[in-house]
Amino acid sequence: MKKAIYPGSFDPVTKGHLDVIERSSRLVDELVVGVLNNSAKNALFSVLERVTMLKELTAHFPNVTVDAFDGLLVDYAKRIGAVIIVRGLRAVTDFEYELQIAQTNHEIDTDIETIFLTTRLEYAYLSSTIVKEVASYGGDISHFVPHQMIARIYAKYGIEGFDQ
Ligand code: PNS
Repeated sequence: MKKAIYPGSFDPVTKGHLDVIERSSRLVDELVVGVLNNSAKNALFSVLERVTMLKELTAHFPNVTVDAFDGLLVDYAKRIGAVIIVRGLRAVTDFEYELQIAQTNHEIDTDIETIFLTTRLEYAYLSSTIVKEVASYGGDISHFVPHQMIARIYAKYGIEGFDQ
């Protein structure tokens, strides 16, 4: 049984995240989407909201579960029996940061490996930060996030009246 964790902030979850979830869930027996519970971050959605939305959006994947974690990722992975960390790589700009985290995690726990999925080209530019920037000005985010998320994101900026 190979169990993997796909960690992140998911604030908010994007189509790029969902693509990585779908593709990595096919590579392992069980995939846990781990939402970082980081109170220091100025988040748009609470951790509970993010977990709830991710559960909704991944309900059709039989081997995917969603959970929140705090503390070190490798400690959480160990606790739940995950031996693989999944991360998405969009562009070369992600590489240095991701390499540093992966190598640090491996230094802390050599039993846990990080694997990277290159994101689909159509999502290569996409990030939660970009979604928030566009949404905050009332721009069209329908290409960036699942349709169930659109009204919820706009609502955070006080923009109402969008159909789900
Ligand atoms: O979606 P993000 O914000 O790029 O995800 C970053 C995340 C959650 C993978 C990373 O910040 C993390 O693992 N944080 C938990 C603390 C930790 O273990 N850091 C890595 C060792 S430096």
